[in-house]
Amino acid sequence: MTRLIGISGALRRASFNTALLNAAIELAPAGVELVAGSIRGIPLYDGDLEAAEGIPPAAAQLKDQIAAADGLVLFTPEYNNGIPGVFKNAIDWLSRPATDIPRVFGGKPVAICGASPGPYGTLISQTAWLPVLRTLQADTWAGGRLAVARANTLMDAQGKLSDEATRTRLAKFIADFAAYVQARQPAQS
Ligand SMILES: Cc1cc2nc3c(=O)[nH]c(=O)nc-3n(C[C@H](O)[C@H](O)[C@H](O)COP(=O)(O)O)c2cc1C
Repeated sequence: MTRLIGISGALRRASFNTALLNAAIELAPAGVELVAGSIRGIPLYDGDLEAAEGIPPAAAQLKDQIAAADGLVLFTPEYNNGIPGVFKNAIDWLSRPATDIPRVFGGKPVAICGASPGPYGTLISQTAWLPVLRTLQADTWAGGRLAVARANTLMDAQGKLSDEATRTRLAKFIADFAAYVQARQPAQS
């Protein structure tokens, strides 16, 4: 079994990126388990808070979930042609203390995708993640791309990703990433 964790970088209930993550969970191929991690409850990064209280429980839990997973998928929104602050803030907490970065992110296969109502589907934000992931010494997967544009037209009345063509693209994206992750795993006897 290959274990992936996906994180949506949005907090709002009707988030297109969370809908994309939920659809990916449904569409993960046999032998691949994709679970949702959450940035909810992670406070704004504050070095004084870290010094006084250590890593907040929500961040510590997410760190352990990522460390235990074989691969990580970021479902990123785009704000003002960049990474939304809430998502970057969460990853900043996950990078603390810096001595723990190798355990959480070191060599970790990471795929990036995203959805937006705009015409480019978070491409600029996805690109903005690259130097962050490089700094964390993650193994950013470059074998596929998924930028879901006009996301508001692809959902049903319940906010679920219903567009079949997009679901097909998403299924291929997850399957291709999982195959990359599996190829890096030691053979199981
Ligand atoms: C402050 C702000 C800035 C935004 N900037 C962009 C942008 O640069 N590019 C884009 O495609 N959408 C932009 N949007 C629209 C978001 O893509 C849209 O709100 C989207 O629904 C957010 O992702 P979510 O559905 O997962 O919450 C922006 C939205 C906000 C609130």
